[in-house]
Amino acid sequence: MTPVSSTRYSARTRVFHWLTVVLVAGAYVTINVRTLLEKGTPERTLVMQSHFLFGLAVLLVALPRIVSRLGAHTPPIQPPPPGWMHRAGQLTHVLLYAFIVIQPLLGLVSGLADGKGVGLPGGFRIPGFFGTHEALSHALKSAHVWLGTAFYWVIGLHILAALFHLLVRRDNVVQRML
Ligand code: HEM
Ligand code: HEM
Repeated sequence: MTPVSSTRYSARTRVFHWLTVVLVAGAYVTINVRTLLEKGTPERTLVMQSHFLFGLAVLLVALPRIVSRLGAHTPPIQPPPPGWMHRAGQLTHVLLYAFIVIQPLLGLVSGLADGKGVGLPGGFRIPGFFGTHEALSHALKSAHVWLGTAFYWVIGLHILAALFHLLVRRDNVVQRML
């Protein structure tokens, strides 16, 4: 176990963080690559199914990550940031935690509610098991697309903040997560 005096996040927290980064990046890359492929082709279907898989993996990792975060030790930032900067960081992190749960759920439930279910690579399929609800599916899908677009900005802000800490403020924020 990492000692409480540690200057870094625990190994578990760091693994959860960077695994999530890879999976979220996978979800974004696949959903954008799909526009380069013709509709109805097996390649496009595979890329869409990979989007679903990356997205579901984000959710799968998010749940134990959040449980493990509760009560976990947060290593101190040296030199300590002003209060507003600390609160801005906390707010962004809460938004990011909410995103990695809500975004995949919106995608999943919209896919299930259209009655067809969610196809995954390798011929696997999560069947739609609660009937067909077109209006609900459509509304959830719109929310999914909106939130996915909005979070380019939030994730971008998060990365810019990390760069600011590393290069301008030169504190230990980034080193704590490496
Ligand atoms: C954190 C995980 C996820 C992220 C970041 C994400 C992101 C996105 C984004 C940005 C779009 C909009 C692309 C565009 O039209 O510009 C999108 C579309 C879509 N996503 Fe996800 N997604 C995630 C998880 C999921 C999951 C788990 C599913 C289903 C199981 C899913 C199903 C879909 C579908 C069906 C669309 C296409 C909507 C349409 O018809 O335009 N997504 N996703
Ligand atoms: C290259 C991309 C990224 C970099 C460089 C980065 C860097 C960091 C750093 C340095 C911290 C520690 C901040 C602090 O303790 O004050 C952090 C925390 C965090 N990051 Fe990222 N991050 C990236 C991408 C992401 C993505 C894609 C997500 C999720 C969608 C994410 C979610 C979080 C969350 C929730 C925390 C808070 C951890 C906690 O204290 O509980 N990050 N990130």
